[in-house]
Amino acid sequence: MEKKAAVLVGSLRRESLNRKLALALEDIGSGLLNFDIIPLDAVPLFNEDLEATPPAAVLDMKERVRAADATLFITPEYNRGLPAVMKNAVDWCSRPTGKGAFTGKAGAIAGISPGAIGTALAQSQLKPILVMLGMRLMGQPEVYIQGGPAYFDASGKVADPKNRDFLALFLKRFAVWIG
Ligand SMILES: Cc1cc2nc3c(=O)[nH]c(=O)nc-3n(C[C@H](O)[C@H](O)[C@H](O)COP(=O)(O)O)c2cc1C
Repeated sequence: MEKKAAVLVGSLRRESLNRKLALALEDIGSGLLNFDIIPLDAVPLFNEDLEATPPAAVLDMKERVRAADATLFITPEYNRGLPAVMKNAVDWCSRPTGKGAFTGKAGAIAGISPGAIGTALAQSQLKPILVMLGMRLMGQPEVYIQGGPAYFDASGKVADPKNRDFLALFLKRFAVWIG
């Protein structure tokens, strides 16, 4: 049976390249992985005072992450670091301490940026956080994509067949990693 991957995208932008990457990966991985792309727009800033009665968007996100076999993190890089949207989602999902939604689960990271290092620094900040939370994080292949809107064609698919093949390999390895 297909494994289920919750997908967290670290950008709220309508034309987000990283959301496009998530959708393109969902398409490439169909038949291999079942994606659940979780909206983060309504997830408020983490506040311990809200934990007793968490907002609906937080409950929804955590339930969907817990229900999945794995989480795929698709993140931009902001100012050589991890965007607040992604860190905020991770902080909510990390609770309660030691029994967070990622603990014991498989994970993988990808990202796209027009910048030269293709989100490598943002990803390198996310990795030790997820490992500390007890996630089984896949190390390779690393997906640092240097690209802009032209990485995708008009229908949202990855334009270059070589890039599609690489992403298909990434998803195949991730499916094995989850299993
Ligand atoms: C506040 C801010 C900081 C940024 N810093 C970086 C950066 O450090 N490295 C990088 O490659 N791109 C950086 N960018 C450019 C983003 O990679 C680009 O806007 C990208 O499209 C954002 O991802 P998205 O399309 O999924 O929203 C930055 C953009 C913003 C808005």
